[in-house]
Amino acid sequence: MSKSKSMGQVFTTKAVVNFMINLSTLKDRELLVPILEPSCGDGAFLRELEKRGFVNLTGYEIDSGIKQVCKTVPRNEDFLFSEDSSKYGVCIGNPPYIRRKNMDPQLVEIMDNFSKEVGYVNSLSDFSFPFFIRSIERLKEGGELLFITPSYWLTTKHGEKMREFMMANGCMRMVVKFNEANVFNGEASLDAIIFSYIKSKDTKKYPRINVYEVKKGEYTEQRLNQIISLQTASQKPSSLHKFSSTTGIEKYDIGQFEQASNWAIHNEQSIVTNELSLSIGKIEGCTLGKTLGDFVEIGNGIVTGMDAAFKIKDEAIFSEDELKATKNILKAKNIKKYTHGEFTKYIWLNESEFASDEDFQEKYPGFHEHLSRYREGGENVKPGKRCLEQRFAYNDDTNWWDWVYLRNMTWLSPARTKIFCPCKERFDSKGYVRFCLVKGDVLPLQDVTGMVPFKETQESPEFITAWLNSDYVYDWLVAKGHSRGGVLEFSEAPLMRIPFLKIDFESRKEKELHDEITLLFNNETIDTNELNHAFVKLLKLRS
Ligand SMILES: C[S@@+](CC[C@H](N)C(=O)[O-])C[C@H]1O[C@@H](n2cnc3c(N)ncnc32)[C@H](O)[C@@H]1O
Repeated sequence: MSKSKSMGQVFTTKAVVNFMINLSTLKDRELLVPILEPSCGDGAFLRELEKRGFVNLTGYEIDSGIKQVCKTVPRNEDFLFSEDSSKYGVCIGNPPYIRRKNMDPQLVEIMDNFSKEVGYVNSLSDFSFPFFIRSIERLKEGGELLFITPSYWLTTKHGEKMREFMMANGCMRMVVKFNEANVFNGEASLDAIIFSYIKSKDTKKYPRINVYEVKKGEYTEQRLNQIISLQTASQKPSSLHKFSSTTGIEKYDIGQFEQASNWAIHNEQSIVTNELSLSIGKIEGCTLGKTLGDFVEIGNGIVTGMDAAFKIKDEAIFSEDELKATKNILKAKNIKKYTHGEFTKYIWLNESEFASDEDFQEKYPGFHEHLSRYREGGENVKPGKRCLEQRFAYNDDTNWWDWVYLRNMTWLSPARTKIFCPCKERFDSKGYVRFCLVKGDVLPLQDVTGMVPFKETQESPEFITAWLNSDYVYDWLVAKGHSRGGVLEFSEAPLMRIPFLKIDFESRKEKELHDEITLLFNNETIDTNELNHAFVKLLKLRS
């Protein structure tokens, strides 16, 4: 990886730099206001600020090799542990965002020190998180942080502590959502947002957050000027140009975030598809704040390390004994809404406890011959590809015939009823998501997330699966799920947060509807309309 990439050097375009300055509170501040650019790259923000007459500018850039386009001389040092304790009125910029696996070793060390000494971030956090925290620390009361960043920190579990820190120290003023537009002219592909945050003890001053959303596929640099016009118009209530939206841009506002767990931003007025037209807030209200994580165990599927080797394509070539040493596996592509397609048999020898390689060969000659083709030098190992011995071993006892990572196996394996969904689910082109009920000793592969109801959970697995596939959960997921590029992430943390319709079993009507949904689910053909109709009756009892 190039040094520039491992240092997070993606520079902001001139149009976006100007837009961000126009969007900021700088127009209401004096030219003497101290301004900080904590990771200034080639100085694009500083140059524009200089042009507008701001004179009190400080920039940091760890890489002294970058040629500057501004007059201000940046401090060529690490901003996060700099000695300077000056306070600023505005902090503006584009912090480096890099995940750990791509980070330059110098940045890994800084990140580790930050998580040890300052907290709020862990080793899995993105490198931009410490920049949020340190920049807020450096703001004066009433100061503004205005950053362009990827959107994922708003909803990711690793960002929760940072969001708590942000809530404790101020509030959001504005967010511009770009819906995956190419705002970096092809230099980076990410779902960018621009946000304005005010450090303040008196957060009442900003009861609502203004949101400008560039509709998907509608971005051009022209749109940036339109947003500024919308912003100007909304600040002049008597203006003749009082309009709230314009082609390609949606303007709305939302209340300040009340919890750090999820800062998904969506238009509370936007159209929902469910039969009762319940808004997202109403869906959360009807479910009384209960969420899926309190009712089911959730975990990712197992990792063999080389599916091609373990998958059985032709059962006829193996002995009966061998076929007993297999596991049924469900892959994401075979998951349907409510039900599933075929299982695949995988060779399963982790529990076989062979005394030696020869012992294995004697007991299961067919498997030995088959798997040997994937060993070092084997005929099925393609040039440049890994062999069985080179699979990443999570523990040193892994034999070449073992699966490498049996995560969640203990609770997923027993032949109990489970719910599976794909780890990543494209929803925008389909208009639905897939949760299926699985019975028997079947394991999810790594591209599948498995769920098992807790012993104390009274709702049937059929009811839970029907609820997860319902229009109400779908609408909630579209608005508040953890998604990127039209794909929802269904790992443990985002699934845990899904609202859950806990049944009041004391209520005869609710219990009857629960049982009706369970029965409908067990019909030979599952009728979505009938299920939805039962949920309508159930939700009407609540609303
Ligand atoms: C995403 S770029 C943005 C540059 C500039 N703000 C812009 O928008 O064009 C982030 C910059 O931060 C710099 N950087 C990385 N770690 C840093 C650190 N610890 N302190 C200061 N700068 C750092 C990188 O070298 C890179 O130039």
